[in-house]
Amino acid sequence: MRPDTQRITGFGDQRGLTPDEVIEACRALDDLPGLDYFNVTAGSMAGLGGSVHVVPPMAIVEAGYLAPPAKRLRRAVAKRVFLAGRINQPQIAEAILAAGQVDMCGMTRVLIADPEMPAKAAAGRLDDIRACIACDQACIGHLQAGRFGCLRARMMLRP
Ligand SMILES: Cc1cc2nc3c(=O)[nH]c(=O)nc-3n(C[C@H](O)[C@H](O)[C@H](O)COP(=O)(O)O)c2cc1C
Ligand code: SF4
Repeated sequence: MRPDTQRITGFGDQRGLTPDEVIEACRALDDLPGLDYFNVTAGSMAGLGGSVHVVPPMAIVEAGYLAPPAKRLRRAVAKRVFLAGRINQPQIAEAILAAGQVDMCGMTRVLIADPEMPAKAAAGRLDDIRACIACDQACIGHLQAGRFGCLRARMMLRP
């Protein structure tokens, strides 16, 4: 059965709701039957400052930057908390989980950059993973031109 999730964006600084608002909204939904977990990230299409956090680029954030505020939410609700946003290596996801900051890490662009990432991680081939550098060129930028992919993967595959 497919799990039901509520995605919510926040964490302040024009990134969407403030951390307190995120927690308040999630607490209000915490008893909802059938809702399995909260999926949190940053960003808001309501303004330029927030929109850059929807798919956060390397210029403005560090890897795993949303883990500390997500931990506040995890402490405030009973349901499990899933985090996405610039978690670009399995080691970073492991560190976030080991620190108890969230229950699960979502990784979008790293799977575009290297669809074999989960298999490589499971096999301990961490150095072989083509990490997403958050350039947002092909996965986001080229979408407007009707193309989709990863610029880094294309460059590395080119003979
Ligand atoms: C090509 C692409 C499409 C996306 N589409 C959606 C979407 O439809 N809805 C959504 O909530 N987030 C969408 N996102 C945002 C991702 O779910 C994720 O929150 C964001 O990319 C940050 O995670 P990452 O650093 O692991 O890529 C999209 C991201 C990419 C790269
Ligand atoms: S083009 Fe590739 S490296 Fe750049 S952000 Fe997208 S997935 Fe990451």
